[in-house]
Amino acid sequence: MIDKKSQRLAWAITGSGHYLRESIDMLNTLENVDIFLSSAGAEIIQQYGFQQALNAAGHRVYQDKTASSVPVGMFYKGKYHGLVIAPATSNTIAKMAYGFSDSLVTNLYAQAGKTRVPSIVFACDTAPELESEAPRDNIVKVYPRKIDLENITKLKSFEMTSVVEDMESLSSCIQQHLQSLTHAD
Ligand SMILES: Cc1cc2nc3c(=O)[nH]c(=O)nc-3n(C[C@H](O)[C@H](O)[C@H](O)COP(=O)(O)O)c2cc1C
Repeated sequence: MIDKKSQRLAWAITGSGHYLRESIDMLNTLENVDIFLSSAGAEIIQQYGFQQALNAAGHRVYQDKTASSVPVGMFYKGKYHGLVIAPATSNTIAKMAYGFSDSLVTNLYAQAGKTRVPSIVFACDTAPELESEAPRDNIVKVYPRKIDLENITKLKSFEMTSVVEDMESLSSCIQQHLQSLTHAD
């Protein structure tokens, strides 16, 4: 029997510099969150100097250390009411859109789907041309490819999945999800 009141939100961070700062700020405003880092995510957090910000709220952090993604077993124990993937790289989006589950984050998404836990994915390479934060406060121009944009469109058709394309939509989608839990009581 799952104790719904003790359920938590799983938040996965991938190796994207784009909107990394804003995603960390947002997850630090929430309670009862566990963080999961892709291997690239862990590296990028170091490169951008965001480790302290990541630790600020005292959330538990799981790293991608095992081939079978051991921590995803917690979805089968009903530990999580939802999964947020923010920011999501075009690499992780591509893998998820084609059903791969060969890393911690792609496995979280696959196992969330297989246990009917809703996922909110912040795909940040969403326009043909955008500006992105690089390490040391530099801004670079990025031109996502047709395939990157197509993969986002494909992922939007997946069950139990909300794909959002800006921080405002990410915030309101998370709030709606959290409110739906209270109303379900
Ligand atoms: C400084 C830096 C910034 C990056 N920012 C992005 C990004 O904004 N979006 C993206 O799709 N990939 C970005 N990458 C590339 C990803 O980290 C790389 O594709 C990695 O393999 C993604 O792995 P993951 O999807 O498992 O996290 C960046 C790489 C570096 C070194």
